[in-house]
Amino acid sequence: MCGIVGYIGAEETAPILIKGLKRLEYRGYDSAGIAVLGSAGLTIRKSKGALKNLEEKIEGELGAGALDGTMGIGHTRWATHGEPSDINSHPHTDVSGKIAVVHNGIIENHAKLKVWLMEHGVSFRSETDTEVIAHLVNFYYKGDLLQAVIGALKRLEGSYALGIICENDPDRIIAVRKESPLVVGAGKGENLIASDVPALLEYTREVYYLEDREIAVLYRDRIEFYNEEGEQRQRESRHVEWDAAAAEKGGYEHFMIKEIHEQPKALRDTLRARIKIAGTKTINLEEIGFDASWAKAERVVIAACGTAWHAGVIGKYAFEKFARIHTEAEIASEYRYRNPIFNPKDIFLIISQSGETADTLAAMRLAKKSGARIIAITNVVGSTLAREADLVMSTLAGPEIAVASTKAFTTQLMCVYLIALQLGRLRGMNDTELAAHIEALEKLPEQAERILAGKEDIQRFASLQFNKSKVFYMGRLFDYATSLESALKLKEISYTHSEAFAAGELKHGPIALVDETTLVTALCTQPALFDKMDSNIKEVKARHAATAVITYDDVDYFDKTADQVFRIPRTLDSLSPILAIIPCQLYAYYCSVLRGLDPDKPRNLAKSVTVE
Ligand code: F6R
Repeated sequence: MCGIVGYIGAEETAPILIKGLKRLEYRGYDSAGIAVLGSAGLTIRKSKGALKNLEEKIEGELGAGALDGTMGIGHTRWATHGEPSDINSHPHTDVSGKIAVVHNGIIENHAKLKVWLMEHGVSFRSETDTEVIAHLVNFYYKGDLLQAVIGALKRLEGSYALGIICENDPDRIIAVRKESPLVVGAGKGENLIASDVPALLEYTREVYYLEDREIAVLYRDRIEFYNEEGEQRQRESRHVEWDAAAAEKGGYEHFMIKEIHEQPKALRDTLRARIKIAGTKTINLEEIGFDASWAKAERVVIAACGTAWHAGVIGKYAFEKFARIHTEAEIASEYRYRNPIFNPKDIFLIISQSGETADTLAAMRLAKKSGARIIAITNVVGSTLAREADLVMSTLAGPEIAVASTKAFTTQLMCVYLIALQLGRLRGMNDTELAAHIEALEKLPEQAERILAGKEDIQRFASLQFNKSKVFYMGRLFDYATSLESALKLKEISYTHSEAFAAGELKHGPIALVDETTLVTALCTQPALFDKMDSNIKEVKARHAATAVITYDDVDYFDKTADQVFRIPRTLDSLSPILAIIPCQLYAYYCSVLRGLDPDKPRNLAKSVTVE
C-alpha cells in the first residue's frame, strides 16, 4: 500500500525523500510526490506513474532553488479514492498551500467532512479522502501545528498514517498513526519517518514503531511523543538487527530471487533460536511464553490472508497430526464477518508477514475480545500484530521486499511446525517421534540449498512452458496446501491463470478445463497416496495436458507417467511443503522474467494490505 517518508535534518531533502520512496516501491504504488520546506517556502512536486516520472520532473530543480530545503515529506500512492493522477497524488495541501499532508489508509467519514468543509468555504481540488485532512488541520490551525493536528484527529474516522508539515511551523514534522504502520527513525542531527524500516536503514537503525493514535513530533535534534490528548510520553527506541545491505539486491537481478536464495539461512536462523541442545535436543518456546498452560487448549484457530493463510492450511494439517487437536485455518476476511463461534479455550494463531494486514488484525481483535489467547507469527517485531498478541514468535527472515512472499512463507511454516510439535509434546508426543522431527527440521536448510543448486532445471522447464495459458497445481494432504501457494505465486507475478485443487477433486469439476493448453503440476510427497496421484496424472495426460511432478529424489514412481519430474530431498511427509514450494517459487519467478515482467512489483498488488 502507500509509502510514506519524511526527513528533517541538515541535508538536502528532496534526494533523500526520493531514495526513501524507492526503498518503499515494493509496497505497490501508482503515483508519487514530495513536499519540501525551504527558503522558498513549501514546494510540492507530484507525478502519476513510476517514481522515475517524478525524478524526471524535478531533475533540473535540484540544488537550484524551489526544491532546496532540509525538511520534507514524500509519498507513493496506491489509489483508493480517485484514479491515479497528478492531482490525486500526495502530498495534499490546504487552501492556503501552507500545510502539506501525506497519508496512508482510508478516512471513512471523508464524504461527510468534505460537505462540512465546503459549507465552511473550502473548495476541493482532488477526489481523494486525504485532502480533507489538510483542510481540517488548517481549520484548527491557530499558530501551533501540533494542536491543529490534535484538533483534526478528533474528527477523523478510519485508518491513517500521516506525515504533516506547515510553512508557518518550519522546524518540525508531525507524524501520527492509527491502524496503518509508521516508523520513526532517530538519527544524529536528523530524524525520519517511514512506512517501513528499509527506507530508514541508510540513516539509522534506532527506531520507534508508533503505536495506535500516538503522535511523534520530529525536530532536527529530538523526537517528542504525545497521545491524542496532547500529553507527552516517554518511549524507548528499538535497535533494528537488519543492516542496509539486507534491503539491497546484493548482486541478484530481483529481490524475489534473492529472497528465494535466502531461505536456507532464514530457515536456519528461525529454527536455531528455538532448539535447546542440552542432552537430547528439545524445542524451547518458553522464552516466548509458550509453556505448559497452552496444552489445555481445546481447539486451534488459525487466521491469516493470502500466502500466510496457506501457511495456516499447512498448520491445520500439522497441528492435527502432531498434537491431535481440532484445528481450523480461517481466511481472516471471511472469519471476521461470519459471527464465528468462540471458545475461550481456543488458541488463536495469527500469521502475518507484515503484522499490519487489516483483515488479519480485525480477526485477531475479535478473537481477543472473546477471551482466547493469541499467538502471533510475524516478520516485523514492532508491528501492530506483535504488539497486540499475547505471545509472539518471529520469523527471522530479514526484510522481505519483493511483493510475492517466499522466505516469509517458509519461515512461517518453520514457526508453525515448532509450535505444533511443542503442543504435541505437551499433549503426549513421545521422545522418539519428537527427536525424529527435530532432526528432520534441522536438515531442511541444507536440503533447501540443494534444491536451489539445481535451479537451472526449473529455468529450462520454464523456458518451454512459460506461455501456457492455464497452469494447475494438484496434490493431496500437505501437497494440496503447497499447491495453493504454488498457484498463487504463479498468478501473482506471471499473470498466468493458475489454480490449485485437491487432486481428489479433479473428477468433480476441474478436469473439464484440462486440454492441450494446460500444464498440470502434481505435487507428490505423500507416499501413502502415490497411487492415487499417479491415476490423477494419467487422467490429465489423457486429456493432452503437459504434466510435471515434484517428488522425492529416491522416488521413481512417476518417471513413466509424467512428462517431467523434479526431485527434492527426502524429508518427513508432513515437512515437505518447506521444500516442495521452492521449485514452484522458482518456476513462478522464471515465468515472470521470461514474460518480460518485473517479479518484484506485480501489477495491482501491494506488499502490505493495510486497508480492507
Ligand atoms: C502473496 C502475499 C500475500 C500476503 C497477504 C498477507 O505472495 O504476499 O498474499 O501473504 O497479503 O500479508 P501478511 O502476511 O503481511 O499479513
